[in-house]
Amino acid sequence: MAETLSSKGFVVIDNFFEDWKILKQEADELLQKNAFRPAQIGQGNALQQDITQRGDNIVWLENANLSPTQKAFFDKIDTLQSFLNQTFFWGTNDVELHFALYQEGMFYQKHLDNFKGKNARRLSFILYLNEYWKEGDGGELRIFLPNEIQENQENELNNTPNFIDVAPLAGRLACFVSAEIWHEVLPTNTQRYSLTGWLRRA
Ligand code: OGA
Ligand code: NI
Repeated sequence: MAETLSSKGFVVIDNFFEDWKILKQEADELLQKNAFRPAQIGQGNALQQDITQRGDNIVWLENANLSPTQKAFFDKIDTLQSFLNQTFFWGTNDVELHFALYQEGMFYQKHLDNFKGKNARRLSFILYLNEYWKEGDGGELRIFLPNEIQENQENELNNTPNFIDVAPLAGRLACFVSAEIWHEVLPTNTQRYSLTGWLRRA
């Protein structure tokens, strides 16, 4: 995993977390309670809502207040964090987590999670919670390949696209280096659930 992360900048792990169904139920309970809020873009005082760039609704989780299943996921991520810190010396010491829900038609335009290294995020990770996702449902995560990979591939094959699309399948974890990997969420045709987070150096 570390090798793929350092050579490609991203890695996708299927069946990363088996109790995703419970997380999906918890997200649905939060939805019933009207806990989801429009996600915002920008930083600090410049935070704003802009549905033309980003259309998801989110609920931040408090690390001190996680459900048992959320805690089990947190612990897996924390183990990953220790491993990555030993490997890459990122020195991250904090995990941010939020549920995200994209309703039909929503998307998130191409962006970086850590623009020009301006914030503390080192690794972005997304656990998808969509049991019935199928081709045509949309909402794929489009990961833009870093330039070197792109150039190598273009030397071999002339027509290689410079991105890959990752289906938001239940139990799958996508993770990538926050400051390096441009990505977007394609418009979704069905409700699209995830538990999304970051390893950060506080
Ligand atoms: C984000 C993001 C990707 C996804 O929340 O910053 O890019 O697949 N999410 O949900
Ligand atoms: Ni992002």
